[in-house]
Amino acid sequence: MHEGLARAVDEGRAGDRLWLYATYHCNLTCTYCLTESHPRIADRRELSRDTLVDAVAQGRALGFRSVGITGGEVFMLRWFPDALAEVASLLPTVALTNGTLFGQRLLDRLAPLASLDVAFQLSLDAAEPEANDALRGQGNFRDVVDAIGRLRKHGLRVRIATTVEHRDEDALERLCVLHRELGVPDEDHVVRTIVRRGKAAVEGLGVELGPHDALPELTLTAEGAFLHPFGPTVRHGVTDVDLRVAAEPLPLAGSLEAFLAAVAQLPAGDDVVRNVR
Ligand SMILES: C[S@@+](CC[C@H](N)C(=O)[O-])C[C@H]1O[C@@H](n2cnc3c(N)ncnc32)[C@H](O)[C@@H]1O
Ligand code: SF4
Repeated sequence: MHEGLARAVDEGRAGDRLWLYATYHCNLTCTYCLTESHPRIADRRELSRDTLVDAVAQGRALGFRSVGITGGEVFMLRWFPDALAEVASLLPTVALTNGTLFGQRLLDRLAPLASLDVAFQLSLDAAEPEANDALRGQGNFRDVVDAIGRLRKHGLRVRIATTVEHRDEDALERLCVLHRELGVPDEDHVVRTIVRRGKAAVEGLGVELGPHDALPELTLTAEGAFLHPFGPTVRHGVTDVDLRVAAEPLPLAGSLEAFLAAVAQLPAGDDVVRNVR
């Protein structure tokens, strides 16, 4: 592993996962969306397929251990299933998705990924349709529960991400009962509170992100490199650059140096409680 990255990871200052925002386009319009993604977003901020795969190849060479791909909705990109197979053959990969686009044709394209180290992380916020759909859209609960079953039937690994305004332990327990019933174990379920960036900031939702709340993990978008995946947010159509470390995503060695320089200013891991992941 790249020496500086290895030191930062050892000291708990940074993670060894490389994040990529493939597109800011989305078919949904969630009320709290970090990236103000929606079907008619003016600037989709897309990475090309070549850039995405290249970034992961360079990441592997530098010693990154895993990859996260997010958006927007990555399955809005026609080429994404093929790129995901390429990326997942390089490094263990998690693809974050709203879970609403898994029709039979897409599932057939994804079937070969069952033999690769790839997980599909679907968003599901509550065990009750009304509570989930309030911020994610009418009919979303039904679509996501259906997609979890279909993905698993095709031998694909499913994780669940839950985003909540307030932690309600009873409501979370009901959701855990549901995901276990659907075959998703506890270690594949993450829960986070809404971060007050992007559309959540406009709507007055969620918690302010403290300077050390999120573990630094190099995050690439079409607009550069950022300190962690909660960095490249959009408010009123404008990208937030307060957590940007480089204006160009590649070459990765360059973004990594800028990232490590930013990380060096932050306290080491043992002194820090990471409240958001
Ligand atoms: C931005 S979405 C992109 C992937 C996909 N479209 C989805 O919704 O799962 C990635 C994750 O961030 C969560 N998220 C969106 N806005 C957020 C916010 N303001 N604070 C915390 N998490 C948020 C989503 O619920 C989702 O689990
Ligand atoms: S949270 Fe995900 S699904 Fe919802 S609008 Fe944002 S990108 Fe789309």
